[in-house]
Amino acid sequence: MKGNVALIGFMGSGKSTVGKRLARRLNREFIETDRLIEDRARMPISALFQEQGESGFRDVEEEVLKDVSSSAQNAIIACGGGIILRQANIDRLKLSSVIVYLETDTAALKERLSFSRKRPLLNRPDRDKIIEELHEARCPLYQAAADLIVKTGNRPFAAVISEIIERL
Ligand code: S3P
Repeated sequence: MKGNVALIGFMGSGKSTVGKRLARRLNREFIETDRLIEDRARMPISALFQEQGESGFRDVEEEVLKDVSSSAQNAIIACGGGIILRQANIDRLKLSSVIVYLETDTAALKERLSFSRKRPLLNRPDRDKIIEELHEARCPLYQAAADLIVKTGNRPFAAVISEIIERL
């Protein structure tokens, strides 16, 4: 059943904040794939990356998304930024959810992510360059997967949430 709303977008695009508030407004369950990954792996995402590398992390992410797609109903699902890297994830999301892409420009992402220490892909001295490269590579994937595209960037979250509700 396509009763869920899945939020996709780059790290720092506001999926968790928007998702939590949207769930409260619509009186729906809120699910975050990153939290389920940590529960399943019984360790923080940074430790999972360290122990099993990115591909190990992606395997757990795919398992989690498989479970969520088949069990969640009418939930708001905040997906990790890399969920679109595997076609199987996109296929499952398409069957179970309306997919909303929170689109953010690179400059806003760099600013928002400048203090983040919890994202292993960005824990490196050239993080701004990595953000640019990853964002450019992933934008077409987010766009292709999305049913709805909503701009975030420097807009207040309340405006973003109202727009999503209007367009759902
Ligand atoms: C990742 C995004 C993170 C998390 C992991 C990998 C990515 O989630 O899943 O660090 O590849 O974009 P957020 O988008 O919630 O930061």
